Amino acid sequence: MPKKIGAVAVVGGGISGMQAALDLADSGIKVHIIESKPGIGGVMSMLDKTFPTNDCAMCTMAPRLVEISRHKDIEVISHSEVEKIAGKPGKLNVTLNTKARFVDVDKCTGCGSCTQSCPVSNFVQPMLPEDKPVVELNPEIRERIVDIVRKHKHRRGPLMPILQEVSAFLRYFPEEVLKYISQETAYPVAHIVRVATFYSGFSLKPIGKHIINICMGTACYVRGSQILADRFSDLLNIGMDETTEDMQFTLKSVRCIGCCGLSPVATVADEVYGKLQIKDVPGILNKHAAEPKHEGELQIAN
Ligand code: FES
Repeated sequence: MPKKIGAVAVVGGGISGMQAALDLADSGIKVHIIESKPGIGGVMSMLDKTFPTNDCAMCTMAPRLVEISRHKDIEVISHSEVEKIAGKPGKLNVTLNTKARFVDVDKCTGCGSCTQSCPVSNFVQPMLPEDKPVVELNPEIRERIVDIVRKHKHRRGPLMPILQEVSAFLRYFPEEVLKYISQETAYPVAHIVRVATFYSGFSLKPIGKHIINICMGTACYVRGSQILADRFSDLLNIGMDETTEDMQFTLKSVRCIGCCGLSPVATVADEVYGKLQIKDVPGILNKHAAEPKHEGELQIAN
């Protein structure tokens, strides 16, 4: 077999670039992965599940990440972009533009402590254009929302704690609240909506006090979770992703909640019900319907 010479540059360290690099390196070629972000992984590293198989994204990616980091013939050049390619096929010269990291990469372990000690903050005090109307909040919720935003808006990364507290209070984000958060934190509304719709625990429409999650993952499905879902649906008189008129229950389906050994599984509020049978459903609903309201919890009007 002829000796393989030279090296290959793979531009982009997403899942395709990672797999291409591994295939090339396994065939005996030196590979340089050039990635513009600080680390490889690409969009897949931001996903929970992948379409259409609903496979766990991290389970697909993690073995490849480990293999790349250990492969003797793969070099990852992150934080870098291709500036120029010169030469001819078979003898190309690639010029890279590597961004400054301001850390010694040989010493950095990625622990993140430097971010805590950094004296520079990029918090931007919001500046409203003169003609932009100030957002009016519903008087019923104004005081609490103003308190929540005031409590967090000067800390580093205020958006998540604000959204979590508002969600615990209202169980959803009314449009005027999103606009108010934007006005006070200087995050664009589009960014706030992106965050609010990314996490399944947040909702943009009113949801019930108790969320019923029926697991429709494979293990639960083959053990009858669809029949259970139909039973919940019949008793509550709502379909999937709907909320009862009294705002008590919202019915949702989820894919694998990580306790397949107990399938079929459903969760109501924070409680997990495993090995569920149809006869258990009315009792579960009665138990949660009878729960007293928590202090400070807002009664959302129908
Ligand atoms: S499939 Fe239902 S918990 Fe895993």
